[in-house]
This record gives sequence, structure tokens and C-alpha cells, in this order.
Amino acid sequence: MSGIIFFKTANLTGIREFYEGELGLKLWKDQGKCLIFNHGTLKLGFCEGEASETNGIITFVYDSPAEVDARYARLKKIATGKPETSEYYQIYHFWARDFEGRNLEFQYFMQPEQKAQTKAEIAILNPDEAKSKLLLTRMIPQNAVDQLQQTFEVHVNTEPRNLSKAELASHIPQMDALLCLLGDTIDRELLDAAPKLRVVSNYAVGYNNIDIDYAKSKNIAVCNTPGVLTESTADLAWALIMAASRRIVESDKFVRRGEFVGWEPLLFLGQDLHARTLGILGLGRIGEAVGKRATGFGMKILYHSRSEKSPDYEATRVDLETLLKESDILSIHAPLTPETRHLIGKKELAMMKETAVLINTGRGAIVDEKELIKALQEQRIFAAGFDVYEEEPYIPQELLDLENVVLLPHIGSASFATRAAMGTMAADNAIAIIKGEKPKSRIV
Ligand code: NAP
Ligand code: GLV
Ligand code: GLV
Repeated sequence: MSGIIFFKTANLTGIREFYEGELGLKLWKDQGKCLIFNHGTLKLGFCEGEASETNGIITFVYDSPAEVDARYARLKKIATGKPETSEYYQIYHFWARDFEGRNLEFQYFMQPEQKAQTKAEIAILNPDEAKSKLLLTRMIPQNAVDQLQQTFEVHVNTEPRNLSKAELASHIPQMDALLCLLGDTIDRELLDAAPKLRVVSNYAVGYNNIDIDYAKSKNIAVCNTPGVLTESTADLAWALIMAASRRIVESDKFVRRGEFVGWEPLLFLGQDLHARTLGILGLGRIGEAVGKRATGFGMKILYHSRSEKSPDYEATRVDLETLLKESDILSIHAPLTPETRHLIGKKELAMMKETAVLINTGRGAIVDEKELIKALQEQRIFAAGFDVYEEEPYIPQELLDLENVVLLPHIGSASFATRAAMGTMAADNAIAIIKGEKPKSRIV
């Protein structure tokens, strides 16, 4: 079901220039005497008439104040005031007017304030003074929580959000062990506030969120979850490769907008994968598993790593420049280190083919996001698929505005089975350290 709100206009050409050109709405249908535009689920129509109808308010709703600000930055010329908060209506908005005098409002519905300010509830699942204390920063699959309770008194954040730095710091002093997420920053300051801490068990393979040198200097073990998530993350990298190359998300949106009117010779043309060249940046566990899947597509495989690897399929080690110049698909699987931060910047993007597709399931900051946005805007590469971002969870509006990029919320390892296996491994690691045994995977 859908509906349309119509206005009469005396200037249909002007309407098109304004609503499509200036506001950036999508033209859904051109009926000759009527134009119908899309803004999310809102359909807005204008029909030619003698006089223009201008009564009422057309309100465009956005999901964040930042989006309203971004709109304002683009529409300053027609705005009649700056963005502001209305306490009365609990909205953040600004007003503007179209060229015929209709009132336009650009707004965000504010979340109830108390929600953001509530202190996270830390529940003690199994009060037991005799046990070592472990802080679990978010609920993870139940198998791991059960396992942890056998060894630890488990203190857990039950809110559906990550702990703030201050919240983490207020709970860490009593803790013997910490089981945390890749979104928790475990820095010098936090480690200094943790006199009893013996282990930081990361519920992830990547550990760029932890100051491992400082942990080592304080004799705090740091553990991670390699291996158990390799195949799931490689599957997801392929989901992105296919989605970005064959424009799957764009096509899905098109169908849902009701725009599919029949098979067309030139509709949503994309890039082939079969018989093309896959470039892998960082041929480790996940990179190797991504390459293995490519053999089924008959792809030629190139990789760049600091050392020679020997996967059980044909793959050629090349320097970074060759990788960039020759890859049709470039997939990033290196860890984030001082060496790999912004490894893919302006110069590197310029070396890629115009038809190339860039996939990142490693870490966001390996790519210079500002330069990536420019390359995509100017169509200097064909498309991109991203699971990770430079300042996660923040994603720049310019990236959200692009059609030639597929954006996922860091779900590489997010299958039921893999998240359970990661839980077992992270719990095993913490338990082993506390018991003085050798954990499955210890970094320092
Ligand atoms: P891994 O086995 O350690 O593989 C990483 C590979 O990167 C290594 O083989 C390493 O080879 C290479 N590398 C390191 N520094 C490099 C550099 N400067 N230039 C080129 N290559 C370099 O790790 P993994 O288990 O495959 O995981 C890789 C990364 O994926 C993790 O660190 C994590 O950040 C990310 N990840 C993301 C998700 C997700 O949800 N999106 C899930 C899991 C993992 P050399 O030492 O020979 O260079
Ligand atoms: C996920 O990004 C991980 O590093 O496990
Ligand atoms: C497409 O569906 C075809 O038959 O070529």
C-alpha cells in the first residue's frame, strides 16, 4: 500500500528543478502533467494547474540530528531559520520555503533524553564472594555466559548499548577479568584503573582496540578469538563482493519503490566476477578463505602481504602497486596497525581500475574514508562494499548518500554458530588465564 500527497502548481518545470535538482528527491514518476517524487516512504506529487496550492507543511524526517545539519548545510539558501531544538514538540528541525512559497520542514524526532543518560545497569548474575570477578561488557550468546559463571562471579552490562568510558572505568577496579568487545577501548587510563586485572579477553579476532604493549608491561594477558570466525567472515566478504559488483542493494530498493516495469537491456549493469582478478590485501586466515571461494568463480588471485604464503590454491604474491593496478575486486583483510592505517589513500585509489570494486571487512581506518568518498562520487572506481568504518559507528553522510556503495553494520562474524563459538573461545581464554593454564589464543 502507498499513497501520494498532491499539490497543484503553476510551474511544473520549476517544481522539477527545485524538488529533484535542489532538494535531491528522486523522481518516481513523470506523468507529463504530474510529477511524483520519493523521500523514503513519502510520495509527493505536483500537478499542473492554474494556481499553485501552497497551504500546509511538507515535513521531511531524518534519522539523526547530523542528517538535519547536513541538509541545512546544503539548503542554506532557501532556509528561513537555522536548525534548532523545539522542547515542546521534542524535535530538532529547521524551516525553508520552496519557490512558490510552500513551507518545508526538515526534522529529527528526538529520543527521550533520560534514555541516553541512564547509567548502565550492571547485573551480578551469580553472586559468589569466593569466585574471581569478571566484567562482561555486553550480553553474548548464553552458552558462553553459562560457562563463565562456573569460574567467575559474572558482572554484566544488560543494556542494549556499549558502556561509556566512564562506566567501564567505574566498574573495572574490582575486576580480575574483563571480557570485552571490539568497540570497547581498553587504553592506558583504563588499565591503570584496574589493579586486580589479570586478563582482557576480546570477543573478536582484531585487537586494535586494546593497548597491548601497556597491558604486557602490567602483566595483564590479552586474548582474542582467531580461527572460529574465519569462514563466516569470508562468506560475508563474498556477500559484499557480489552485492557491490552486481548492484544488488540498489536493485532491491528499485523493486520496492515499484519501479520495475519489465526486463530492460540496460537495467542495472554491473561488473562480472567470473574469470576476473581478485586482489587480497592481507592473505591471513580470512584472506585465504576469501581466495578459496574465488577459485569456484574461476578467478585469478593476487595477494599482498609482508611475507610469502602458501595457500592450497594458485595465488601470486605482488607488491601493493601491482595489486591496486591489476585487481578487479580488491578485498581488504589485513589487521589495523600503525603500518596499515590509511594504507589505501588518494594515491592508491588513483591506481585502481575505473571498473574496480573495493571491499573492506578488515578495519575501517585501513582506508582513508574521505578519499574513498571522493573516488566514489567521481566514479573513479565502480563501487565499494564496507562492513567497517573509520570512526565506527559514525558513518559520514556523504557515504550514506552514495548509491554505488553497500554499507553493512560490522556483521562479518554474525552467524548464530560463529558468535556462539567465539563466546566459547573468549570464555575459555579468560578461564585459562585465571586458572594459570595456557589459553587457546594469547596475544601478550
Ligand atoms: P590474520 O590471520 O592475522 O591475517 C592478517 C594478514 O594480514 C596476515 O596474514 C598478515 O600477513 C597480513 N598483514 C599484516 N600487516 C600487513 C601489512 N602491513 N600489509 C599487508 N598485509 C599485512 O588475521 P585474520 O584472522 O585473517 O583477521 C584479519 C582481520 O580481519 C582482523 O585483524 C580484523 O581486524 C578483521 N576482521 C573483521 C571482521 C568483521 O566482522 N568484519 C571479522 C573478523 C576479522 P603478513 O604478516 O605476512 O603481512
Ligand atoms: C571482528 O571484526 C573481529 O575482529 O573479530
Ligand atoms: C533473461 O532472463 C534471459 O532469458 O536472458
